[in-house]
Amino acid sequence: MFPRDFMWGAAMAANQCEGAYLEDGKGLSIADLLPDAAGGRWDMLYHPEPYLDKKLPYYPSHEAIDFYHRYKEDIRMLADMGIRAFRTSVSWPRIFPQGDETEPNESGLGFYDRLFEECRRYGIEPVVTLCHFDTPYGLVRRYGGWKDRRVVDFYCRYCRVLFERYKGLVRYWMTFNEINMMTHIPFLGGGLLLDGEPNRAQAIYQAAHHQLVASAAATGIAHEVDGQNQVGCMLAAGSYYPYSCHPEDVMAAVEKNHENYLFTDVQSRGAYPGYAGRLFEEKGLSLEMEPGDEALLRENTVDYIGFSYYSSRLAGTGEEARKNRVDGNAVDTLRNPYLDITPWGRQIDPVGLRITMNDLYDRYQKPLFVVENGLGCEDKPEADGTVCDGYRIDYMRDHIVQMRGAMRDGVPCLGYLPWGTIDLISAGGGEMKKRYGFIYVDKHNDGTGTLERRKKKSYDWYRKVIASGGADL
Ligand code: BG6
Repeated sequence: MFPRDFMWGAAMAANQCEGAYLEDGKGLSIADLLPDAAGGRWDMLYHPEPYLDKKLPYYPSHEAIDFYHRYKEDIRMLADMGIRAFRTSVSWPRIFPQGDETEPNESGLGFYDRLFEECRRYGIEPVVTLCHFDTPYGLVRRYGGWKDRRVVDFYCRYCRVLFERYKGLVRYWMTFNEINMMTHIPFLGGGLLLDGEPNRAQAIYQAAHHQLVASAAATGIAHEVDGQNQVGCMLAAGSYYPYSCHPEDVMAAVEKNHENYLFTDVQSRGAYPGYAGRLFEEKGLSLEMEPGDEALLRENTVDYIGFSYYSSRLAGTGEEARKNRVDGNAVDTLRNPYLDITPWGRQIDPVGLRITMNDLYDRYQKPLFVVENGLGCEDKPEADGTVCDGYRIDYMRDHIVQMRGAMRDGVPCLGYLPWGTIDLISAGGGEMKKRYGFIYVDKHNDGTGTLERRKKKSYDWYRKVIASGGADL
């Protein structure tokens, strides 16, 4: 069964829920530059350059679900559901509008004072991501984003401000959301503009190195400011399976797993793994390290392994495997014939969560924290407004059962924070139609809607799960 202090909770991110994109002194983040799908969002994720100076019709994050103004109502609804932990992110450009200022924006800090105090009022533990796909755009314009080493210092200044300000209010932190996304969607991961780069991989892994250094430095600062702080990494997880038992397919899966583990190996073990040498050689790159980087990484490893899990992945080498690619995901995967798949290309694999948890714990021997998991799908309200999302309940139940299985395997897990919780803007598609929440928000792909909140059927189900400590699924 689940431990008494297990953190049943909820997860969201500033740029996907807050809106108020220029309010109270906030600067632009890279996420604020992403239009909706009709405006070219997917294309922009991979080739941002042509879009940067255009004024496009609709940017979903500018209003999002207006959490900035409605957070009290939202936290109350989440508290009524019984959650014990609430994951959100701080919007970096709300605190440092351009990213490189020396003094923070007091109004931005004031918002998070109120938000975290509101959580505490209900006995909810805030779990805070320091950077969730929203590097300040000012740092992209002036420095080229995370390609430039100076961004490490700006990030550390920002983190120190938060650790000092929220000492005693926030104890659980994560340095970068899905840090491995840098290799898949480098604009969102690190504000990288890569057109014209002679070696894209060189730029991507150099930027990743800067984030890894920044992550270690921030972990050190967090521990120095408050010994109670717990700092985690955050991996877009989901183990790769081999397409077949052919040794080449098995090796392909090993290599694809390595590409993701590279990040958490550094953050959790404190050094680049052996296979990094081969990977970098094959990609024709060589990392520039500063003296002291290796010691910094070694001495400031994370306290827990935060991760998102939506699906397992599949890798293989043969012609048949190559023909079976799945589109619509930022992460490369093949179609697994044994799994159902959502219209958005996510394969559904609850057992994969147990496998992934075992893999992560065997590798790191640190507590895990499921900080994202959920089903994105179209919810159609009935004539009376109710939303009967039994499919979401089935998905969550099946995943909780497998998480419990992993815990019975001996994997320590701090909590479960399902993604979305309240419908919000999708990071990939920028849409509202793909909904993840237990709470429905009346807002639509074209930007219309009253923003009214309504409980879905899954809301009552999750309340019951929490109240029973995970016994009543
Ligand atoms: C994770 C991100 O990749 O998956 C979230 O951390 C994102 O920001 C979530 O929203 C679901 O992906 P999507 O593209 O369906 O919103």
